[in-house]
This record gives sequence, C-alpha cells and structure tokens, in this order.
Amino acid sequence: MPELDSPQRQAPDSLMLTGFWYRALPADSVHRNQLHSAMLLEIPLVIGRDHAGLPFALRDACPHRGMPLHCGKFDGKNVECSYHGWTFNAHNGQCESIPSLTAGQNLRVDRIYAGSYPCEEQDGFIWVYIPDPGPPGAGFGAREEVPVPAPRIEKFGLSKKDKFKLAYLTANMPVSIDHGIIGLMDPAHGPFVHQAWWWRSRHSIHEKQKNFEPIPNGFRMSAHTPSSNSAPYKLLRLYAAADSITTTIDFVLPNLRTETIRAGRYWFSSLTTVTPITRNQCRIDVVAAWNIFHWLPFGPELLKFVFAKFVEQDRRTMELQAEGLKHNPHLMLIDDADRPAKWYFQLKAAHLEAKRTGGEMKHPMAGPVTLKWRS
Ligand code: FES
Ligand SMILES: [Fe+2]
Repeated sequence: MPELDSPQRQAPDSLMLTGFWYRALPADSVHRNQLHSAMLLEIPLVIGRDHAGLPFALRDACPHRGMPLHCGKFDGKNVECSYHGWTFNAHNGQCESIPSLTAGQNLRVDRIYAGSYPCEEQDGFIWVYIPDPGPPGAGFGAREEVPVPAPRIEKFGLSKKDKFKLAYLTANMPVSIDHGIIGLMDPAHGPFVHQAWWWRSRHSIHEKQKNFEPIPNGFRMSAHTPSSNSAPYKLLRLYAAADSITTTIDFVLPNLRTETIRAGRYWFSSLTTVTPITRNQCRIDVVAAWNIFHWLPFGPELLKFVFAKFVEQDRRTMELQAEGLKHNPHLMLIDDADRPAKWYFQLKAAHLEAKRTGGEMKHPMAGPVTLKWRS
C-alpha cells in the first residue's frame, strides 16, 4: 500500500472512479424545458428536464463538430445543436434529424448518437451514472442500462402519515476527490478546524475509542452513542434520553458517507457525497432527512446553520491546504486517526484490481477493528 503519495500522483482514471452514480446538480436548480451545464469526472454534461419533468443527461458536445449542446435549443423533447441544427433525443441521445440532408442523401441518421448517461432524481439531487470509458476514439452508441438505482437516503418507519423533511448543502472544494474524502472521514481535525464558542473548544479534546467493521465496498463505524460533539446529537438530546440515542456511520465506495441517528421513533439520516468534478476539484453535498423538529420552529434552520458552518470551515481549510499541495509535498497517514483514510485507499486499490482481473474484490479489512484517537 503506497503512502499518501496516492492522492496527488494517481492517474485520473484511478483517482476518479467510473462505473458509479454521482450527484450532478441539486434537483431544484434544474428546470423544465431548460438546459444546464455541469461537470463530473472531467466530463462536460448538459442536464435538463423534459416536458414531463423527467431529468436527462447528455455529453455536452455535439457529435458533429463538438459544439456544446447546452448552447442549443430544447423543446421539451429534443435538443437542437446551435451550430448546424442537428437534433437529438434528450433521453437516449439518438440523432433525430440533420437539416442539411437532401431527399436523396440517405445517411442513417438514427445510427448517430450524442453521448447519453443514465440519469435519476433522488432525494433532492439529479444523479448521473458515469460508465467505464469505451475504447479510445470510439464514438457513442445506444447506452447500456445500469443494474443498480442511484443511492438513496434511508428513511425509517414511514407510513403515509409519517412526515419527514429534507435539506441539502453544497460546497466546492479546490482539492482532488481523495483529499476531499479523507478530509471528510478524518476525526483529528475537529478540535482545530471546527471550533466555535457555542460548540466546543480545542480544550475539549479527549480520548475516543470506536469500533469499525467491514461492509461491502466500505466500512462501518458500528452503532454507538454519538460523540457529545455531534451536531444532530446535541439537538436530539432535546427529544430523547441521551443513552437511547445511537448512530451508525458508513463509508462506501466511491464517495458515500451515510450517517444514521436513531432515538426511539425519531431519526435523522444524512448522505454526504464528495464528487470529483476535475482531478483538482471536488464538491461536497450533504443531504439530510429527518422526522424530528416538527414542532420546534427553528429546528431545521438551526441544523442547517450548524452544518453550513461546519462545511464552510472544511471548505476554507481545504482552500488553504490546496496552496500547500501545489508544490507536491511528501505526505503521511498515521495510526489510528488516519486509519479510515488508509482503508479508503486500500478499498479503491482493491476495487480497481478486481475490475482489472475480473475477480472478486478482496476487502482490505479481515474483520472488526477498534481504533483509538484523541479528538
Ligand atoms: S456541431 Fe452540432 S450540428 Fe454541427
Ligand atoms: Fe470537518
């Protein structure tokens, strides 16, 4: 296992994993009959909603001469390129018409495709599936369907009358996906980066011990009473006995961090993703769902305020870190605080190795592990 040389010196195809769903844009920013541009894994995309509101994603380059398709027109069904007016079915990318063709010219228009990507709306975001790249130089054809749906947030005991709320936060980070992810799972920066007089000070640092276990494609911090410094926990204590509150935190490739907090019939669930935009840029999206705070007027706002503060502190830190990383310093990962980061790199390497050989993925963790650190 190489040291932390990996996040900077990896080739883009091992840095940014293909063959997964990624969050592309907040659903409320994508409007019917409009075209929006986005980027995932250095792939430019045009994203929109058809007349029925169903989202779609195409490669933002016309297969004729590369004009960005988001500059074209959209009638709710087909996208028309602004250069020579070729039109493409928004959902499958198939070419529908080429205005310059005369009656006798029998080019098979229906064999021409703009690149199209599986696209789903889930928990307030438009998700796009980025497949493994085809052979170099090959154009686009009809796309394959994805075997798995986009990830969703777990919601508990929901009957029709059970209400829950959903909110999201998003922030751009000027670092690679790897630095974004290991920054997210790093327990040791809390007392230094996330200080606030109403929250905690660096003097609240104390020894912690947490149990971890392997799960498919990732690892879990086993169910435990949350850290007294955790934001939702502080609010949940208003609703339930402190010792009835448990939390579980999972990390799963390529970029999914799920946190679930349960206290009796109350629950709070979040799915945080760190999405590779380019090799030097990622975006963090926190989406949370909960069934608490219905009668507490400031509950959701308070929670959003706390999360926004945390995310902004992380963003600012990574902006400064990016300065330091420009000159390719030697880096290290230490035990036990950086062990989750080591697992992340090992999981990624194991995933790529399994893909290369076509064999089963060999999970880097043999069984449950207890980690200790001070934070
Ligand atoms: S570049 Fe799009 S139609 Fe020619
Ligand atoms: Fe943080």
